[in-house]
Amino acid sequence: MQPAYRIETERTVLRCWQPGDAPLLSAAIEASLEHLKAWMPWAAGEPRSLDERVGLLRTFRAAFDKDEEYVYGIFNRDERAVIGGTGLHRRDEGNCLEIGYWIHVDFIGRGLATEISAALTKMAFEIHGVDWVEIRCDPNNIRSASVPRKLGYTLEATLRKRRITPLGKVEGTMIWSLFADEFPDSPSPGAKIRAFDVLGREMGIVSPTGG
Ligand SMILES: CC(C)(COP(=O)(O)OP(=O)(O)OC[C@H]1O[C@@H](n2cnc3c(N)ncnc32)[C@H](O)[C@@H]1OP(=O)(O)O)[C@@H](O)C(=O)NCCC(=O)NCCS
Repeated sequence: MQPAYRIETERTVLRCWQPGDAPLLSAAIEASLEHLKAWMPWAAGEPRSLDERVGLLRTFRAAFDKDEEYVYGIFNRDERAVIGGTGLHRRDEGNCLEIGYWIHVDFIGRGLATEISAALTKMAFEIHGVDWVEIRCDPNNIRSASVPRKLGYTLEATLRKRRITPLGKVEGTMIWSLFADEFPDSPSPGAKIRAFDVLGREMGIVSPTGG
C-alpha cells in the first residue's frame, strides 16, 4: 500500500516535506528552539543553515519515497506556516511504526499533538496494516506522555538509564503501545481525516465524516 503524501486533520495539514519548505521550517524551529532543546536530540545541532536544512529535507523526502520512514511537516490549513513536525518511523523489531512529534511553541496546549497522533495512528493501522504502534518519550516529558495516554495507548515499560538526554542527563524511556485489536475501541478511529496519495487522489479511509 502506498503512503499518504498529504493528510488533512481538523486543524492541520500533514504533508511529506519538500526541500522548498526549508525557510518555513527554519522559522518554526528557531522560534521554538529553547522548548525543543530540552527533549529533541536533533535540536542540539540547531540553528542549521538554510542549505543544511534543504539537505535534510531532501533526505526526508528520499526516505519517504523509498518507504523507509514517513516524516511529515505539520502546517496550518492554508500551509503558510509550519506548526511542527511528525512522522511514522520504522523500528527494528516487528510490523510496527513509531510516531514522533514536536509542536511550535506558540501552538502547544491546544490538543494538536493529540489530533495529529490520532491521525497517524489511524493511518498506521488502516493504510500500513501494522500490528502495533509505539510512542516513546522521556518519563519527565509529562506533556508528551499525556498524548498516548489520551489515545488509549498502554505504558508497556519504562526502560531505565537507556539514553543521554539533550541536556546531558542519563534518563529512561517510556514505551507506549497500541495493538491492532485495541485500535477499534480507542479514540483514533474517530479522527476526522482525509488522506491523499502522491498523485493527490483521495485514499479510502474509514472516517466518521465519510471523508
Ligand atoms: C510534547 C508536545 C508535542 C505536546 O504538544 P501539544 O500540542 O501541546 O500536546 P496536546 O495539547 O495534544 O497535549 C498536551 C497535554 O499536556 C498537558 N500539559 C500541558 N502543560 C502541562 C504541564 N505543565 N504539566 C502537565 N501537563 C501539561 C495538557 O494539559 C495536555 O493534556 P490534556 O489535553 O489532557 O489537558 C509539545 O509540548 C512539544 O513539542 N514539546 C517539545 C518537543 C517534544 O517534547 N516532543 C515529544 C518528544 S517524545
